[in-house]
Amino acid sequence: MHKPFSPACERNRDAILAVLREHFADRTQVLEIGSGTGQHAVHFAAALPELVWQTSDVAANLPGIRAWLAEARLPNTPAPLVFDINAAAPNATFDAIFSANTMHIMAWPEVQNLFALLPALMRLGALLTIYGPFNYGGAFTSASNAAFDASLRADQPQRGIRDFEAVDALAGAAGLVLVEDRAMPANNRCVTWRRSS
Ligand SMILES: C[S@@+](CC[C@H](N)C(=O)[O-])C[C@H]1O[C@@H](n2cnc3c(N)ncnc32)[C@H](O)[C@@H]1O
Repeated sequence: MHKPFSPACERNRDAILAVLREHFADRTQVLEIGSGTGQHAVHFAAALPELVWQTSDVAANLPGIRAWLAEARLPNTPAPLVFDINAAAPNATFDAIFSANTMHIMAWPEVQNLFALLPALMRLGALLTIYGPFNYGGAFTSASNAAFDASLRADQPQRGIRDFEAVDALAGAAGLVLVEDRAMPANNRCVTWRRSS
């Protein structure tokens, strides 16, 4: 199969990897939600061989993820799981969850679903790291993010850059406490929470 390719993944993968090296250093089993092409998975799993990196996405994206995993032939990337936030969650628990560029693609009720599903997926003490753009205090952090948000909403009105405070409130309701909110290149963030209850 022709492998799907995301130029953005090539640009952001090493900056994200630097965050994961710190926060996931003592982790063993990671669930990636919305793996997309699968590029992030092969990059991170190759660099962090002590982790089992479990990819997942809606069914339509699984052939592409499988193509990336098959080519990389890594020992720590099991077959991708179908995981649509609108359906049942995988019947497994993890000590880390990672998701990149999904909050602004999912409709807000789907973001709410995702956080409602997290307690069943995360062991006590598990970490959640989310990469992507956020707004703060109801404001964009850059003109480029404002333009990106406008293009997202013009394409699909239910999409859009989320307010960090609203997402953090969902995390709190799921028993997660904020560990770090790190600035990333190109006006993105890497936000990490820990399940504390
Ligand atoms: C912009 S892409 C990001 C893909 C990849 N994480 C990356 O950073 O390149 C958004 C991803 O969210 C996934 N997604 C959207 N709605 C979803 C849902 N309801 N359940 C699970 N994944 C969903 C899409 O299939 C897609 O892989």
